[in-house]
Amino acid sequence: MAEPLAGRHVLITAGPTREPIDPVRYISNHSSGQQGYAIAAACAALGARVTLVSGPTALPDPDGMTVVRVETALDMLAAVEAAMPADVFIAVAAVADWRPAAPSDTKIKADKSSFATLPLIENPDILKTISHLVSGRPGLVVGFAAETHDVEALATAKRVRKGCDWIVANDVSGDVMGGAENAVTLVTEAGSEHWPRAPKGEIAARLASRIAEAL
Ligand code: C5P
Repeated sequence: MAEPLAGRHVLITAGPTREPIDPVRYISNHSSGQQGYAIAAACAALGARVTLVSGPTALPDPDGMTVVRVETALDMLAAVEAAMPADVFIAVAAVADWRPAAPSDTKIKADKSSFATLPLIENPDILKTISHLVSGRPGLVVGFAAETHDVEALATAKRVRKGCDWIVANDVSGDVMGGAENAVTLVTEAGSEHWPRAPKGEIAARLASRIAEAL
């Protein structure tokens, strides 16, 4: 089989992050990790050396790559930085935008009035951080956008705001999150293309070969 990504290091984030409130509670989201894991496998199948930095998922570690398991957005950023340099960075993870400002070391009692409000602070934006690296920026940086409406317009604006090269936008108004299929719009500097609904593995293979062509 042709290995057009041989000799390339592809670094991918996947899954949700989990932001502790106390030892038993956290803030997270419905990301299953499936799309990110499928992209990691597709890049490995094209010969890339792959590092997959994954938040908590129910998926087994895929073969043929380095898997780094993390919980929080801060851990995910640190693991991404530790895995650099990379030729390609693909941010698929659904990173929690905010985290509890002061997680409690002990379980917060449900009747405690302080639990009625939960002060949050903003997490670092991993995609933006890597996109804006002055030295050692990966040659190709790809972000994802999960939107429920105006998918193309919002993704086009997001590409510029994040400073990444491509955005893979998906419409999550249906059953995409946690589901087996995805329909995406690829937004590049040249414009946008719609890819019809397909199993996440097929979307991943198509993205991996586009990446190989672009390098
Ligand atoms: O702004 P939004 O969360 O919609 O952006 C989604 C894109 O940004 C995804 O590629 C996601 O992996 C990345 N992201 C990130 N760090 C964050 C928030 C989002 O890498 N804190």
